[in-house]
Amino acid sequence: MKTVSIINLKGGVAKTLTTVSMAYALSQQYNARVLVVDNDKQGNCSKTFGVHSYDRQSIADLMLDRDADLAEVIQHTKYDRIDVIPANMTLLTANMQVMMDSSRPQQTRLRTALRKVADLYDYCLIDNAPDINISTVNALVASDEAVIPVKIDSYAFDGLIELKNQIEITREELNPGLRLAGCLITCFQRQAGEQTGEDWLRENLDCPVYKTHIRYSGKVVGSSFECKPIIEYSKTSAAARDYLDFVSEFLTAEKRG
Ligand SMILES: Nc1ncnc2c1ncn2[C@@H]1O[C@H](COP(=O)(O)OP(=O)(O)O)[C@@H](O)[C@H]1O
Ligand SMILES: [Mg+2]
Repeated sequence: MKTVSIINLKGGVAKTLTTVSMAYALSQQYNARVLVVDNDKQGNCSKTFGVHSYDRQSIADLMLDRDADLAEVIQHTKYDRIDVIPANMTLLTANMQVMMDSSRPQQTRLRTALRKVADLYDYCLIDNAPDINISTVNALVASDEAVIPVKIDSYAFDGLIELKNQIEITREELNPGLRLAGCLITCFQRQAGEQTGEDWLRENLDCPVYKTHIRYSGKVVGSSFECKPIIEYSKTSAAARDYLDFVSEFLTAEKRG
């Protein structure tokens, strides 16, 4: 199982849309078995896949209970080969409890849990909250790679240096295998300034930028009202086509290593 964190300290940069689109493309186009980890208390990923609930277990249970039963926590979805570890607002108090419980390591809990199901999936995609907190640190510790969605606007680069530093610290101290796979430009509108922003990224962040840009598409709003992955909702929309191209580019880059 290859584990990928979709991460950025900013909200609204398409972390969730990217996670959902990657999960859909990998499972439906490439027949990969995908485990999606919703690591954001907002639970948007869980909602899109129809598994948001307060009646079932969620990632909060995994963070708190060493003996949590993964078979109880992992939810099957209506999509073949997509399972989800859902999140809801209980993750907020769970995070505080993890911080207070030093009886066992705090940063490796997700990794320990995911290792138990590593043989069941080809990819694990972790959708993160716009924060550096104990949940996102757990995600980076559990990941082989990080993909950073970036929406280029005047504040686009806030937090990117901090995120890169966090990735480096995690690599040095807890997860030597962690790789910054690349930045993915999302909500692309061919506006003046976007190229300058992209150049800044390449020069200042020293991070690969995927060739594929995800174009802005009005269809995305409709897909979110219907709680459907954009590729399912409108396969011909610009965003859906770009996400399919991105996944193809992502897989080619993986093969190159
Ligand atoms: N390519 C796109 N075209 C149109 N709207 C988009 C696109 N990407 C993201 N959005 C919109 O931007 C908002 C934030 O996306 P989301 O995936 O929830 O970001 P995040 O998880 O980073 O907060 C949502 O309303 C989403 O519908
Ligand atoms: Mg989100």
